Amino acid sequence: QSFFKPIQQAAPPSPTKRHTKISVIGVGNVGMAIAQTILTQGLIDELALVDVNPDKLRGEMLDLQHAAAFLPRTKILASVDYSVTAGSDLCIVTAGARQGSGESRLNLVQRNVKLFSCIIPQLAHSSPDSILIIVTNPVDVLTYVAWKLSGFPPNRVIGSGTNLDSSRFRFLIADHLDVSAQDVQAFIVGEHGDSSVALWSSISVGGVPILGFLENQQITFTKETLENIHKEVINSAYEVISLKACTSWAIGYSVASLARTILREQRRIHPVSILAKGFYGIDGDEVFLSLPVQLGRSGVLGVANVHLTDEEAQRLRDSAEIIAQVQRQLNV
Ligand code: NAD
Ligand code: LAC
Repeated sequence: QSFFKPIQQAAPPSPTKRHTKISVIGVGNVGMAIAQTILTQGLIDELALVDVNPDKLRGEMLDLQHAAAFLPRTKILASVDYSVTAGSDLCIVTAGARQGSGESRLNLVQRNVKLFSCIIPQLAHSSPDSILIIVTNPVDVLTYVAWKLSGFPPNRVIGSGTNLDSSRFRFLIADHLDVSAQDVQAFIVGEHGDSSVALWSSISVGGVPILGFLENQQITFTKETLENIHKEVINSAYEVISLKACTSWAIGYSVASLARTILREQRRIHPVSILAKGFYGIDGDEVFLSLPVQLGRSGVLGVANVHLTDEEAQRLRDSAEIIAQVQRQLNV
C-alpha cells in the first residue's frame, strides 16, 4: 500500500529511466572518502559497499545513511557478499594494505595482488558490463592485475593513477603563481609514485604556456626550481602519511571526479592509468600507467595527443620499465 493517494491520469513509470549504481570495495579511509564525495554529487541512485570487516561495513553504511536528510536521495547497501554489487555501472576498488611511514607503494604489491585474486573475479561476475576503477596501491600494477583477472576489455579497466598527482602539481604551481589551480593545465604522467613524470613543456596557465611566459617576463627560473616542485609532488603522499597515517580527502575528490566524467559522459581529459603499450614508444610489456586520456560512458575513449619532449618521453619509458620489472615477478 502506497503512502500517497493516487492522482488522476498519472503517467505510467518510464521504462527507460536508467538506474545508476556504484560499488566501492574497501571501506577504509580511501573508500569512505570516495563514497562520501560521490554522494554529495548526486550522481547515483544506488551505492553498494563491500569489505571483509562486517562491523566496520555496517557502521559506515549506517553513518552515511544517517546523512540522508542533507543529501540527494541514494539507496546505500552494504555486505560482505558481492551479490550486493550486482548491476553496478562502476566498481571502485580501494581494498587492501596501505603504506606505513616511509614505505613505497611498490612494496605493497604481493599483499594486494593476493586480495585482488579474490575480489576482481567476483566483481566481474556480478557486474560484467561495469567499468573498474582501481585505487589500491601500487595502482598501476594492480590495474594490470585487475585487467587480467576480470577479462574486461582495456577501455573498461582504469587506474586512478596520476589524476591525484596532477592535482597536487596544479596546486603547487597555482600556489607559486597565486592563481586558481583550476586555471592551471598541467599533467603528471607515468607511474603513480616515485618514477612519475612532470610534463613541463605542455603546462599552461589560463591558456598561456608557462615556460614561454616565464622567459618573456624575464622571470628567472632554473631547471632545479621545476625539479623541486615535481619532487614536492612525489613527496606529498609520504609527508601526509607520516603526519596522519594515510591520505584520503584528495583521493576522494580525485576518484569522484572520474566517476562524474564517466557516468555523466563528460568526455573530459584526465591523467589516469590505462594500457599504455603502443604510446610514446612504450612497447614490449603490457604495462598500465597514466597518460592524459578522454573518459566517457564507455570508459577510455582515447589518448590525448599531448606533445612530449624527447626527455619527457624517455622518462615516461623509464617509468614504464620500472612498472614492468615489478609485473614480471607476478604470476597472474
Ligand atoms: P585502510 O586500511 O583504511 O582500508 C583498507 C580496507 O580494505 C579495510 O577496511 C579492510 O578491511 C579492507 N579490506 C582488506 N582486505 C579486503 C578484501 N579482501 N576485501 C574487501 N575489503 C578488504 O586503507 P586506506 O587508507 O583506505 O587505503 C586503501 C588502499 O588505497 C591502499 O592500498 C592505499 O595505498 C591506496 N591508496 C591509493 C591512492 C591512489 O592515489 N591510488 C591514494 C590513497 C591510498
Ligand atoms: C597517495 C597514495 C598514498 O596519496 O598513493 O598518493
